Amino acid sequence: MSLTKTLKLNDRSVNYVDQGNGPPLLLVHGFPLDHSMWKNQINFFQTSHRVISPALPGFGASEPMTASDADPATRSLTMERLADWLVEFLDAIDCKQPVHYCGLSMGGYIGWQFWRRHASRLKSIIAANTRAAKDDELIRRGRHMAAAQVRVSGARLIADAMIKKLFYLANDQNPLDIDYIAQVHQTILATDPNTISAGQIGMSQRIDATAWLSEINVPILFIGGEFDTITPPEEMQSNAIAANNAEFKNIPSASHLTPLEQPAAFNSAVEQFLDNIA
Ligand code: MLT
Repeated sequence: MSLTKTLKLNDRSVNYVDQGNGPPLLLVHGFPLDHSMWKNQINFFQTSHRVISPALPGFGASEPMTASDADPATRSLTMERLADWLVEFLDAIDCKQPVHYCGLSMGGYIGWQFWRRHASRLKSIIAANTRAAKDDELIRRGRHMAAAQVRVSGARLIADAMIKKLFYLANDQNPLDIDYIAQVHQTILATDPNTISAGQIGMSQRIDATAWLSEINVPILFIGGEFDTITPPEEMQSNAIAANNAEFKNIPSASHLTPLEQPAAFNSAVEQFLDNIA
């Protein structure tokens, strides 16, 4: 079971998990979720690792980084800022040792910036269902439209649309009958529309990290989901080939949220990877 804690960082409250002993394993959630998406990994790895997982600012029960009077239409949560915020957070919980950084999707986008800006804090990278490439023009435009729409109409449209893409089983008749899908749907519904908008704008502004892959000198494990259309496994496999020291694992019968859809396969891939580093 994971117990959440809270602390104040720059006067803003952060909700997080910090459990277990051993080498630090930092779990960084995707968009627009929170650390509850890692519940199976928190339970599994806390017996061998110090498992740390914050809800990023504005997501879950963490307060946004900026005061709410900023203009919601231009507010952007950039991957650079989030990477710097993670280091401030690690300092605040006195985690100075380099971390195994495990990020899913947006968490992975932030991971490339974490390497570029704070390489000395990294021991390895687990890049789950994520991309190194930046958005093309079509995706970028789609994000800006989605950002404007959520500010006007709230989170329901995005919650309903996203679960179909996040989960292999969500195209069943009643996806919300499946507990973990209903929980993720609820998490998205509860997210402040201004944070969803700022996240979309931030992701649309991210820079291409593909050329960095051959320079990253810590081991990388790429994990894809067989049916993932947001971050296609074929692209992740090419990233693994382009990287200096990487491997790729494709998880069958999964879409985008592999840690929740196929926890045993996900945990076993990560465990093997971490055992080989230790
Ligand atoms: C995520 O899971 O973090 C998002 O789907 C990423 C994205 O929209 O590119």
